[in-house]
Amino acid sequence: MVKILITGSLGQIGSELVTILAKRFGKSSILMTDVKEPAVKNSEDVEFSILDVTNADSVRSIVRENGITDIFHLASILSAAGEKNPQKAFAVNSTGTFNVIDAASSLGINRLIIPSTIGVFGPETPRDNVPDITITRPTTMYGITKVSAELLSSYYHDRFGLDVRGVRYPGIISYLTPPSAGTTDYAVDMFYHAVKHQEYTCYLSPETTLPMMYMPDALKSLLRLFDAPASSLKHRLEYNISSFSFNPQELYGEIKRHVLDFRVRYEPDFREEIAKNWPRTLDTSEAAKDWGFSPEYSFKETVSDMIVNVRKILDLA
Ligand code: SER
Repeated sequence: MVKILITGSLGQIGSELVTILAKRFGKSSILMTDVKEPAVKNSEDVEFSILDVTNADSVRSIVRENGITDIFHLASILSAAGEKNPQKAFAVNSTGTFNVIDAASSLGINRLIIPSTIGVFGPETPRDNVPDITITRPTTMYGITKVSAELLSSYYHDRFGLDVRGVRYPGIISYLTPPSAGTTDYAVDMFYHAVKHQEYTCYLSPETTLPMMYMPDALKSLLRLFDAPASSLKHRLEYNISSFSFNPQELYGEIKRHVLDFRVRYEPDFREEIAKNWPRTLDTSEAAKDWGFSPEYSFKETVSDMIVNVRKILDLA
């Protein structure tokens, strides 16, 4: 029997992944966890427990006591929040991830999924068509902790045979749960401000291009990787994925086709410094070859779908 633990299950990805996993495996096969109580009960009525991943004993106990077979480790402090509190980012992303990896290995977990990020790249990484294996010398605490997660995952796989897998996510665009202070999140904010106020002040420069993807493709990809035969995987977490790249000016132009009187001002802050050291475009061919990565939503389709759903959520449809 499968019993899946999700850490960080109330976050942007977790809150949507839980619905898909509950549908596929049954709600009694899922255990949602997060460091805080949910504000509202999840619609799937999946069991929830508090889990602070920085506490190694709590991680081991929850895995042991619930007969956990597989883990999606999504608890993470993103790039912008990480620069505001680097100590917390290290605790959650490095100590927490070590605790989860070590528990998964010693307690015989079948598959451990850990998303990585474009945050692992830095100023010395080429900016375009970036391959999976390249220079990864980030300048943010988020990036440093995620490179360390990638290396730890390879170490535990090679040394102890742990089946640990992941993708390097680009910016993820979604409407259900707001993202928690990443650098790419302007792309989500812009939709809400466009629909609600018809104006937005963007913290990145108009020409700062970043790789992005829509949530349905982000989830589909993670599950496809989860299902892939172990023998087909060449990397552990180092699979670049993205659907398209755009900059704030291009996103503004596309949203304006739906919200005619939308206006944007640019006031770049510290997040611009983070974004300009990340790639503009990624080479995703290894993910396609090894486990069939194939996103469906184009940039235009993503924008149209977001507008419809943000209007619905704000009750303006
Ligand atoms: N969305 C993340 C961030 O901006 C990058 O993976 O921090």
